Formats: sequence, C-alpha cells, structure tokens
Amino acid sequence: MVKKINTCVFISGKGSNLNSIIKSSREYNFPVVIKLVISNNSNAEGIKYAKKYGIPYKFYSSKNHSRFERSCLIELKKRKIKLICLAGFMKILSKNFISKFKNNIINIHPSLLPKFKGLNTYKKVLENKEIYSGCTVHYVNSKLDSGFIILKKRTLINKNDTENSLKLKILKQEHKLYPQAIRLLYK
Ligand code: GRF
Repeated sequence: MVKKINTCVFISGKGSNLNSIIKSSREYNFPVVIKLVISNNSNAEGIKYAKKYGIPYKFYSSKNHSRFERSCLIELKKRKIKLICLAGFMKILSKNFISKFKNNIINIHPSLLPKFKGLNTYKKVLENKEIYSGCTVHYVNSKLDSGFIILKKRTLINKNDTENSLKLKILKQEHKLYPQAIRLLYK
C-alpha cells in the first residue's frame, strides 16, 4: 500500500476538477489522498463533491485576503497537508503563503501555457485564431500562471468552435490531465 500524500484542493466554483481528482484518489495506487477542500465562495457548487465523498471542507471568505490565508494555514497545518491543488480557485495567493508550501502548490489552467495567461482564455484564443489550444498543469509561483510546467494537453480547435464549446472540450481534457500530472509528480 502506497503512503499517500495529504492533499487539499482549493476551489471557488463548479469543482469539476475537484471531482476528477477525488475520483482518481480513490484508486489504491493514486499517490495522494484528499483530506480537505477549501472554498473562498460559500456558494461554490463544488462543495457538493466534498459532501458526497465525506471529505472535510471549509469556507473562508477571501474579502480580507491575509485573514483568509491565515485561516487556511492553520487548517492546513492541523491536517498535515503537504500538497495544495488549485482547481478553479479564483484568487492569487501571496508570496508569503506560497513560500510556506514551496513547490507544493499546483494549478490547472485552460490554455497551453505560457500562452494566454489569466482570465478570458477562450475568448483570447479564438480572437487570436489559434489552431490548437489545451490545458496545462503547473507549479504555482508568485506570478500569475507562470510557474514551472508539469504537463500540457493539446486540443484541436474547430472552425465552428465557440467559447462555450471550447471550454467544454478543454474541461474534458483537464479532468484527465490533472490526475495524470499528480501521478507524474510522485512517480
Ligand atoms: C477550469 O477551466 C480550470 O482550468 C480553471 O478554472 C476552471 C475550473 O473549473 N482554472 P472547475 O471548477 O474545476 O469545474
């Protein structure tokens, strides 16, 4: 039996990536176990997955960012969390917070980084008439979507793709890529 890494997933919204990570983590040889879910949005749909699988979850408002990070750090320490997976988490973590989990915070972004960092990714990709887009799992550093890349997956863009169709297509890939990247980290 592998010793699994205690992991926390940070979310703000739908949590479909959270769901895919939880599902993978239930496989006996998956390297991490989800011990905690943190949301900065009390209405985040994704909380339903924590409930479904009986995973402890916390809501901390991020209106006061330093208080948010302090609350997270206390809980993360208490639960001996070693890896943080950001999955649709819509806040930028401070340098100080990141330094406490150096090389142990990862994120998924819906573009082929370093292209199209930040928000409105699909719109930018379509406006730029890209042939391919995709998704990227990367380490989090103090610059937005700029940390070392762990894994990317390319998706072909069709002529009639819209922002929504592209988003759905890429999201489907994300659900495979995130668990794959976590496996790779602990190989
Ligand atoms: C995903 O597209 C992810 O790449 C981006 O935010 C979205 C989150 O989706 N960072 P979900 O909440 O996991 O469904």
